[in-house]
Amino acid sequence: MAELVTEWVNVTGDISIIARESGEVWFHTPSRTKEIADPFAIPMTGVGSAGSTVGLLDGAINLGFVGIEKRLARPEPTVAAYIVALVGAYHTSVDTPRNLRRAASRFNELGRPEVAAYLEERAREETGHDRLALKDLRALGVPGERLVANFIPEGIKPLCKRFDDLCAEDYPIGSIGYSYCLERIAALKQEADIARVRSLCPEGVDATRFLRSHSSLGSEASHVAETVEFVATLPASDRIKIIQETYESSLLLAEGYNHELLKSEAEMLEEIRKAIGEALPYGRGLVPSNIEEQVARPVA
Ligand SMILES: [Fe+2]
Ligand SMILES: [Fe+2]
Repeated sequence: MAELVTEWVNVTGDISIIARESGEVWFHTPSRTKEIADPFAIPMTGVGSAGSTVGLLDGAINLGFVGIEKRLARPEPTVAAYIVALVGAYHTSVDTPRNLRRAASRFNELGRPEVAAYLEERAREETGHDRLALKDLRALGVPGERLVANFIPEGIKPLCKRFDDLCAEDYPIGSIGYSYCLERIAALKQEADIARVRSLCPEGVDATRFLRSHSSLGSEASHVAETVEFVATLPASDRIKIIQETYESSLLLAEGYNHELLKSEAEMLEEIRKAIGEALPYGRGLVPSNIEEQVARPVA
């Protein structure tokens, strides 16, 4: 019987993630004492497997969220928060195809056509997603183009910059880690999350196009599965960089989303008003009082 694959990556100074093909995952503190031989103290060099690679990728995301666990905002859902989330979704989508193509052409130059082909396919699949967010904003009666032109939520800015920078690197493999992080979080959203957002919206309004496509019901789940399969085939040095970037991106994402969620509804409505030059007809009155769970979290 073939031995099960074990993969490991050091993601911060004192934490490595270890994952086995069978699905087990550990967080490991490398031993500092010379007497104990620590097999995980040196970078892995072996092959990957889908089972162990997904353990490392998801382990990296979980680790990124640990830091904000105690500070996690749990606001009441409001239309204002959903509008801000859609603006964030627009900004994290609008440059994605162009950025991915830039990284793909770099991998072609580097003689890595398989990575280029994967990124080009992703660029095709992500094309037009910014327009879904604009349509949702329009459905809510918001002048979407004007709003996104004048407003990037503060917590979303570092994420957009990170992806721009990663795709412009000489060896832009980290872009895969960033994309995985965002898609994996989106794929956690279930039908009930979408139904809750629907119940916030005015009667007869469908403003969940972006959310649906970036949830377990849309293409995100298959994007996640395809990325895991692809990453598992890459050399160990690439897998290490991707996992490390997945961790860094999840730190930015956790902090950024939380920053937005901690704002009051009045602050959000004021940000929107400033950006479009008029007040929106949304306030607490439109939020059904029986909805207590957090649903207005960012949608991408
Ligand atoms: Fe997308
Ligand atoms: Fe996607």
